[in-house]
Amino acid sequence: MEKPPSAELADKTLPKSPTGIQGLDQIVNGGLPKGRTTLVCGGPGCGKTLLAVEFLIRGAEQFGEPGVFMAFEETQEDLSKNVASLGIDLQDLIDRQKIFVDYVYLEPSEIEETGEYDLEGLFIRLGSAIDAIGAKRVVLDTIESIFSGFGNEGILRAEVRRLFRWLKEKGVTAIVTGERGEKSLTRYGLEEYVSDCVILLENRMVNKIANRILQVVKYRGSAHGTDEYPFLIGKEGLWVQPITSIGLNYPVSSQRVPTGIPALDDMLGGKGYFRGSSVLISGTAGTGKTSLAASFVDAACRRGERSLFFAFEESTAQILRNMRSIGLDLQGWIDQGLLQFHAARPSL
Ligand SMILES: Nc1ncnc2c1ncn2[C@@H]1O[C@H](COP(=O)(O)OP(=O)(O)O)[C@@H](O)[C@H]1O
Ligand SMILES: [Mg+2]
Repeated sequence: MEKPPSAELADKTLPKSPTGIQGLDQIVNGGLPKGRTTLVCGGPGCGKTLLAVEFLIRGAEQFGEPGVFMAFEETQEDLSKNVASLGIDLQDLIDRQKIFVDYVYLEPSEIEETGEYDLEGLFIRLGSAIDAIGAKRVVLDTIESIFSGFGNEGILRAEVRRLFRWLKEKGVTAIVTGERGEKSLTRYGLEEYVSDCVILLENRMVNKIANRILQVVKYRGSAHGTDEYPFLIGKEGLWVQPITSIGLNYPVSSQRVPTGIPALDDMLGGKGYFRGSSVLISGTAGTGKTSLAASFVDAACRRGERSLFFAFEESTAQILRNMRSIGLDLQGWIDQGLLQFHAARPSL
């Protein structure tokens, strides 16, 4: 397997655990703080559980670090089904003892009745799960479910601190997930202070289109990208776009490709566009933007080069019909396998 780029980015001063999540390791300069706890917080459905699961799975598969997932909300079966859509075979990793999933069902009413709930039982259970597979990574999903039984604010705060201390003493790299609070990042307003690293996820609507955003709010002892980064959840897991870390050091070509319109080629030094460049054709409705683009594609197909046409306003049939009227037979290229159309609304 190829060495992931993230491993090379590792900060020399602070040991890191690469997440293996595309783009994220770049933003956090190599990974999450090794042997410490990271809080992943955000509203419902923003991807906390998926990020945490992917951290464990990639840890087990790519970095030889087995992991324990302590779930309070989803059973092992649910979890397996949910991550199957990301192409992850969780059950297989469980069978191979690379991942240990422990579903803990906490009944708040029982806790209140006895009034004796503390974390000792959880520590014993988690400790034996860690020992069973030699886990280096741990996920607790979510912190609210652990502390839902605590009525006394003072005890709760002391126990939250105790949990984070316990995890640190265990030497595992942990992710604790947390729901977003009203006035602070988290429900109790304390979790973000006791965590070594805090990642905030958001699902924000912009112009009626959902945008997933990731932000590293805090990272003790390390530099990190501080912007809001868009991310996607797709067939291969999370994909974060580390926009600001993309450098301007790419190579360019001096080769030219004809535009498909001889007079335009003449205007462009008699040769056409630079190969590998992006050309923006701008104009109001009906000025010939699509026709110019279709001529370019037609010329490429004439040379036997394959082309992709992404259409965001018209259907394939509509473009084919309209281009036929200016003498371009794009259907012929499609039939020959030289041209492929992808027409979809931009919101997709
Ligand atoms: N295969 C998939 N492709 C695209 N999006 C997905 C896929 N599977 C889940 N999602 C998205 O991820 C969300 C669930 O994320 P999850 O990690 O469970 O959120 P949280 O734990 O923060 O509540 C779903 O609401 C859905 O939008
Ligand atoms: Mg969840």
